[in-house]
Amino acid sequence: MEPVILTTPRLVLRPLRLSDLRAIHEQERHPEVAWSMAFSLPRSLERTRRWVRAAVSAWKIPAPRRFYFSVVRRKDRRWVGLVLVVLEGSERAEVGYGLAPHAWGKGYMTEAAGKVLEWAFAVLGLHRIHANPWTGNDRSVAVLERLGMRREGVMRGYDLFQGVSRDHFLYGMTRDDWNKDRLGRLKRQTQKRQKPNKRINGKRKNR
Ligand SMILES: CC(C)(COP(=O)(O)OP(=O)(O)OC[C@H]1O[C@@H](n2cnc3c(N)ncnc32)[C@H](O)[C@@H]1OP(=O)(O)O)[C@@H](O)C(=O)NCCC(=O)NCCS
Repeated sequence: MEPVILTTPRLVLRPLRLSDLRAIHEQERHPEVAWSMAFSLPRSLERTRRWVRAAVSAWKIPAPRRFYFSVVRRKDRRWVGLVLVVLEGSERAEVGYGLAPHAWGKGYMTEAAGKVLEWAFAVLGLHRIHANPWTGNDRSVAVLERLGMRREGVMRGYDLFQGVSRDHFLYGMTRDDWNKDRLGRLKRQTQKRQKPNKRINGKRKNR
């Protein structure tokens, strides 16, 4: 497949490369990232290398099923994160993403993932896209809600990480939702995250 390059005012999204390995490995080793993504630490460079190789070669087959974008900041060409789209059938996909912690709180992921959704609906012709963050992942939930995804349910015990059973939200949207919500997205783009509520015994008070 021809390389797909997407651009936003502050970012360039291009197919992931082997040379992104170090930056990706640094991101994965961050405890908050590892906890959000259910990665066990320590995570070896070799393991990350295998993942990066698979991600790079996923682009090379004639009709890719997995699209891994690196997110690079325009002003200094620094690698700041990645966004991936995994097809499930021909009309539906899951979206996933991660940012290097130094790049959090600047609106980069809302900008980058929004561009990828636009591409996936318009160019891949998808009908539905969904995501499934762990219920404690307030930052990811905020990104999905700024993009206009709706919370459709809770998947109980969706992962078992370090012996802890964790529920995940199911968020989703259809192409119709996306097309009808342009103005809403613009308004929400810089919206602040809902700060976490008080926790009681590790659980949210109002969930
Ligand atoms: C999930 C993740 C990508 C979210 O990152 P994030 O930085 O919170 O999200 P954005 O890049 O969209 O930034 C939004 C924040 O930037 C702020 N912001 C600052 N300048 C901005 C600008 N110019 N434009 C838009 N927003 C801006 C927003 O107000 C918001 O702030 P808040 O966090 O105080 O509410 C990040 O936390 C991460 O990589 N986590 C680990 C991996 C992970 O959880 N992946 C998802 C698994 S489902």
